[in-house]
Amino acid sequence: MAKRVLVLNGPNLNLLGTREPDIYGAQTLKDIEALCKQTGTEQGLTIDFRQSNHEGELVTWIQDARKTADAIIINPAAYSHTSVAIHDALKAVGLPVAEVHLSNIHQREAFRHHSYVSAVAFGVICGFGVTGYTMALMALAEKLK
Ligand code: DQA
Repeated sequence: MAKRVLVLNGPNLNLLGTREPDIYGAQTLKDIEALCKQTGTEQGLTIDFRQSNHEGELVTWIQDARKTADAIIINPAAYSHTSVAIHDALKAVGLPVAEVHLSNIHQREAFRHHSYVSAVAFGVICGFGVTGYTMALMALAEKLK
């Protein structure tokens, strides 16, 4: 059976395409979803792609993943730098987690240098734009074999 990957996107990522394109690029979240689904097909993975501006909704989706997913890719966006709740949910669920950021968070403001998610992720990819999602899916496909 195809392994199932839940791809979660945090606040403001619904604005991709128009949001600070010099930092985040010109591609929309729909483009990233299409890219993930294409890579998923190539890698034999089923993709459940979601975005929320609400921390609690992301926490609930992570909890639900215990029954519906084999792994999680998450771009927690601003919640990376603030959310103990998302850290705790990912830890509780215990699925393999890959953390993705479009931009290189270490090259930016100091408040972006720490992510609460990184400690519960098996890998972190940042600075490669939308290709980071493809890289994370390929790494997960290998891990789930
Ligand atoms: C981001 C980086 C975060 O610092 C920021 O708050 C985002 C997007 C990225 O993909 O580069 O919203 O996660």
